[in-house]
Amino acid sequence: MAKKPRIVIIGAGMAGLTAANKLYTSTSSHDLFELVVVEGGDRIGGRINTSEFCGDRIEMGATWIHGIGGSPVHQIAREIHALDSDQPWECMDGFPDEPTTIAEGGFELNASIVDPISTLFKNLMDFAQGKLAPDGGAASKGCTSNGGFGNPSVGAFLRQGLDAYWDSCEDRGEFSGYGKWSRKLLEEAIFAMHENTQRTYTAAGDLFNLDFEAEREYRMFPGEEITISKGYLSVIQHLASVLPPGVIQLGRKVTTIEWQPEIHKSKDITNGCDSSSRPVKIHFCDGSVMLADHVIVTVSLGVLKAGTGQDSGMFKPPLPSFKTEAISRLGYGVVNKLFLQWSPNGNGRNANDKDKFPSLQTVFHPPESELRHEKIPWWMRRTASLCPIYNNSSVLLSWFAGKEALELETLSDEEIVNGVSATVSGLSSALKPHKEVKHNSPEFCNWSAGEVRFVKVLKTKWGSDPLFLGSYSYVAVGSSGADLDTMAEPVPKTGSSELDHGVNHPLQILFAGEATHRTHYSTTHGAYFSGLREANRLLQHYHCLGVYN
Ligand SMILES: Cc1cc2nc3c(=O)[nH]c(=O)nc-3n(C[C@H](O)[C@H](O)[C@H](O)COP(=O)(O)OP(=O)(O)OC[C@H]3O[C@@H](n4cnc5c(N)ncnc54)[C@H](O)[C@@H]3O)c2cc1C
Ligand SMILES: *[C@@H]1O[C@H](CO)[C@@H](O)[C@H](O)[C@H]1NC(C)=O
Ligand SMILES: *[C@@H]1O[C@H](CO)[C@@H](O)[C@H](O)[C@H]1NC(C)=O
Ligand SMILES: *[C@@H]1O[C@H](CO)[C@@H](O)[C@H](O)[C@H]1NC(C)=O
Ligand SMILES: *[C@@H]1O[C@H](CO)[C@@H](O)[C@H](O)[C@H]1NC(C)=O
Ligand SMILES: *[C@@H]1O[C@H](CO)[C@@H](O)[C@H](O)[C@H]1NC(C)=O
Repeated sequence: MAKKPRIVIIGAGMAGLTAANKLYTSTSSHDLFELVVVEGGDRIGGRINTSEFCGDRIEMGATWIHGIGGSPVHQIAREIHALDSDQPWECMDGFPDEPTTIAEGGFELNASIVDPISTLFKNLMDFAQGKLAPDGGAASKGCTSNGGFGNPSVGAFLRQGLDAYWDSCEDRGEFSGYGKWSRKLLEEAIFAMHENTQRTYTAAGDLFNLDFEAEREYRMFPGEEITISKGYLSVIQHLASVLPPGVIQLGRKVTTIEWQPEIHKSKDITNGCDSSSRPVKIHFCDGSVMLADHVIVTVSLGVLKAGTGQDSGMFKPPLPSFKTEAISRLGYGVVNKLFLQWSPNGNGRNANDKDKFPSLQTVFHPPESELRHEKIPWWMRRTASLCPIYNNSSVLLSWFAGKEALELETLSDEEIVNGVSATVSGLSSALKPHKEVKHNSPEFCNWSAGEVRFVKVLKTKWGSDPLFLGSYSYVAVGSSGADLDTMAEPVPKTGSSELDHGVNHPLQILFAGEATHRTHYSTTHGAYFSGLREANRLLQHYHCLGVYN
């Protein structure tokens, strides 16, 4: 009797564990395949890593369910009651509803200056994402120009929109002034703050490298965006829980995947299950090897880029050029989170619930401006917010993207504390109690006196971690949605048509992972769908051959 086909899944993140879960639970006897999940790290979850900081549950990686309507991640979280918790968790209150906008120099900005720019930015993004019809939205867009088509990048489109706004809105009302800020500079800086948020959403460190046409292909689920009370990892653990012990092997970093691209005329074309010679040979970093009939590769696009670049041979022979070109064209960026515990009095906890740190939106002079506060380091200047992770938590969170995110990874805790403290002082120094301070945290006025202390730091390091080499993918200028589809194609190509019967060992290498989903890339549910897709591809393959039913 032929040996059971052996399927090796590389990576125990969302995509890999979804595929394993599906393959295992779909085979009624649990016994049609030999299934192994090999993970280079010492934990499951990949870019999902729930952790704890100062007693609060936090997420080092994936944080939000981006729309609960139709999200498979939400469905699982609900079914396993992961959405109920008595303990506080990151963003339990959702997004901060009324952030205080502070401009460098210490100005709390009036809504009258912030809101029009925020609305402009939102309309421009809605338009870029295809949520506003080309002219249907014009009326509601006020001063927004409708240009946009033909723009190579989201960045160029946004700046064109800002220019059109300035051209068409000469009369923007009174501007009583904020120190040396001119109205135009301030508007531009507020706009840049929103661009910086967009950089963290997309992982495009430079929005001029984010493809404009592809932006409208991206899909969000409708409904609320929420975080998972019991932690994102609870979803991962649920997926893994059906697998028998031994299926998931940790600390098994793959170095090379040897496969057989040759197309032979098979003498025995109907017997696709003959695995007497397993075609794929997987090499691990400890020198061991494993043979497989099928490998599902779920490593990040960053790991694939590094593994398929010049002088690197993750695949032997190298993947065909249609694969390597898509891998190299698509974008993959770094986004990091910084958690800081603050204390109004240095003792590491909130003295009382009046000591709330406000949710801050931060507006900076551009790095080259002579008006800039020289103590604020460059890597803080594109940080759009500094907010408590919930209501009155003593833990603050900022997001970083691009080269600022990479720089953050290299800094010591002390350098970070100094940089953030200098930033908070630079932002708050002119805020005095006699000035119009609307928010409910008069203590903020005193922080410049050095009363706020950052006592503990936790940062993520997704960019330099060799198992990730970044955070998530985006469609870069020069690539397109079609490249995401190409990412998903197995090699050698499918064995379901007449022509393919010439392939002795079809579907040796399959690809899943966030970067292989055309419309939901960069997300956990995109990774989930991709894992399901590749599991189904294999199930279908064996079903067609009459082995699986
Ligand atoms: C900071 C941050 C915030 C995010 N926020 C959100 C969010 O709010 N909402 C959302 O939906 N998504 C978010 N994401 C994206 C989401 O986390 C990912 O899209 C998703 O988890 C990717 O899953 P995956 O299975 O494709 O890849 P991964 O999780 O990367 O899994 C791949 C696995 O392969 C392993 N591996 C790598 N190389 C090797 C090797 N050579 N040998 C063996 N194993 C290897 C890795 O260790 C990893 O476990 C965020 C990501 C980051 C980093
Ligand atoms: C995952 O979280 C743990 C703490 O819970 C931390 O030690 C580890 O560095 C994190 N890994 C990544 C890749 O974020
Ligand atoms: C803020 O708005 C109020 C009216 O809402 C106005 O009186 C005040 O001058 C504004 N401040 C600045 C700095 O524009
Ligand atoms: C937020 O804080 C207010 C008072 O500061 C409190 O009434 C409210 O219940 C808090 N919300 C949550 C979700 O903790
Ligand atoms: C938040 O405030 C509530 C009361 O409003 C208090 O019971 C709780 O301890 C506070 N939490 C933190 C982390 O300070
Ligand atoms: C600022 O601090 C001083 C001294 O600690 C205190 O008396 C004052 O009330 C504080 N101001 C505000 C607005 O909290």
